[in-house]
Amino acid sequence: MVFGADLYDRDAAAGVPDSAVAASLGCGVPTAVADLHPGDTVLDLGSGAGADVLISARRVAPGGRAIGLDMTVEMIDLARRNATEAGVGNVEFLQGYLEEIPLPDGSVDVVISNCVINLAADKSRVLREAARVLRAGGRFAVSDVIADSGMDEATRADMQQWTGCIAGALTRQQFQQALDDAGLVDVEITETHRVHSHAAAAIVRARKPAELEG
Ligand SMILES: C[S@@+](CC[C@H](N)C(=O)[O-])C[C@H]1O[C@@H](n2cnc3c(N)ncnc32)[C@H](O)[C@@H]1O
Repeated sequence: MVFGADLYDRDAAAGVPDSAVAASLGCGVPTAVADLHPGDTVLDLGSGAGADVLISARRVAPGGRAIGLDMTVEMIDLARRNATEAGVGNVEFLQGYLEEIPLPDGSVDVVISNCVINLAADKSRVLREAARVLRAGGRFAVSDVIADSGMDEATRADMQQWTGCIAGALTRQQFQQALDDAGLVDVEITETHRVHSHAAAAIVRARKPAELEG
């Protein structure tokens, strides 16, 4: 399985409604690598049915909270229903766009995302927004699709028919450059599994410099 619910193991999804996990369209499990701690505020970019938000909310309790951001009312409503069913209170779901995150500067400790950044038309803007809302020293840990370098236009068009995700993906070099340009440091891009002959799922991690480094 390259996308979706089968990527979650039983422990990771404990306490999360089956409907949230079953509706997952992710390509990894960012919460497994995000190094979440009680008290953290976590933001999930493109939260969908809310599975990663609910998993995060449990990890950051007590004292922390998890925020899901999604552009569609249907997904926000579904995620809120899933949170109610799970009995998880330290969550909030916001309707809005990754390109214009409706949160103040420096307001979150960790940004996660699961297979969404590749869908955005202006990925550099999304990464600048992620960096803006992170506090100094905050962490960025996302699952996303990265395209192999040297892909020609015909291959991109062919993949677009297979799934919109892959055709829009950045290459490893482009992702690294966009994170550098956004001011994030210590970038690590680790391929996890192939999702197509010309693309792979990857965990992308980075960090916003602490104030004294900046
Ligand atoms: C492939 S699904 C992944 C959902 C979820 N992260 C998961 O793992 O199941 C993409 C989600 O991102 C949302 N989305 C896509 N582009 C967006 C954007 N520019 N701003 C906000 N939400 C976006 C969609 O509405 C959808 O719920």
